[in-house]
Amino acid sequence: MGIALTGSGSCTPQVSLDNHGLSQIVETSDEWISSRTGIRQRRLADAETSVCAIAVAASKQALEMAQIAPTDIDLIILATSSADDLFGTASQIQVQLGATKAVAFDLTAACSGFVFGLVTAAQFIRTGAYQNVLLIGADILSRWVNWSDRGTCVLFGDGAGAVVMQANDRDRLLGFEIRSDGTQNACLNLAYRPQPKELVPGVTIAQGAYQPITMNGQEVYRFAVKKVPEVIEKAIFRSNISVEEIDWLLLHQANQRILDAVAQRLKIPPEKVISNLANYGNTSAASIPLALDEALRQGKIKPGDTIAAAGFGAGLTWGATIFQWGR
Ligand code: ACO
Repeated sequence: MGIALTGSGSCTPQVSLDNHGLSQIVETSDEWISSRTGIRQRRLADAETSVCAIAVAASKQALEMAQIAPTDIDLIILATSSADDLFGTASQIQVQLGATKAVAFDLTAACSGFVFGLVTAAQFIRTGAYQNVLLIGADILSRWVNWSDRGTCVLFGDGAGAVVMQANDRDRLLGFEIRSDGTQNACLNLAYRPQPKELVPGVTIAQGAYQPITMNGQEVYRFAVKKVPEVIEKAIFRSNISVEEIDWLLLHQANQRILDAVAQRLKIPPEKVISNLANYGNTSAASIPLALDEALRQGKIKPGDTIAAAGFGAGLTWGATIFQWGR
């Protein structure tokens, strides 16, 4: 069974904070942030904005583009690391969309979540189990950023993006490669810190809290620049195409320097690199579908175009998919 990506949508919170605004919170400057990362502003969710709300808004657009009804959806996968509810947020999306037939679950793989979700969704379609899948990447990492750590708080923003994936006669998902390496887990964490609590003498449980994001930026940078080109090359090889046939390089929008370095290693010219991180920063699982949706709606990406999409982040996790847009 073939797979087609037929609809996309996105949603970001209204409120934006530019680099000048950030320099009022931590010792930094627009010059430092834009020259080291390419980021100029980011959208931030207020207390009324949930992951579910922005995910639903993005999903409605994707369903409209794909011209399918919520009741047609068989499966909803929400890729997120900042769920409204640790028991899962996807079911709330299901009910708010009225996707009564769909089974819904969350998938956590940090900034690789969208690519991991795409590959997961594809397996259900390939086996013939499901015809219509809604895949969402949505994160509100501002909830978990340490706003006094200038090394990380300048990087992240909030947002959601969604795609509809459908069973199709012609197979538009050409290849993929996804990877994990837990030995490097300490490079990037949003970790639970337990606090021992004695319930009765001799019975102690741990009730603690999640700690803000910590990151070894240089390690993550080195990892991304080395490993991401490798998985893209592997996915291209599996797709039986050449790198010259890639129309668009669509990377997780972490840092412009990473985008440039990966493109350079793959010998993909700058005009084929999709980038919108200047306006949104790193929106984690949302960044790839958010950039995809913008490029589609701007008429940049056209039906039939071949896209190499790659994510990388905490875990560590990384992965690439090669697909052609549309039926
Ligand atoms: N403003 C001003 N100065 C700063 C800032 C800031 N916001 N942040 C750090 N600095 C300072 C440091 O303190 C350091 O000063 P020192 O030399 O006096 O000690 C200096 O700038 C250089 O710091 P580095 O960390 O070496 O800066 P680098 O050039 O490596 O850039 C960055 C840092 C942008 C974080 C980069 O390492 C990076 O992009 N890494 C990858 C991060 C990433 O992509 N994460 C993606 C995954 S996210 C996920 O999965 C959730």
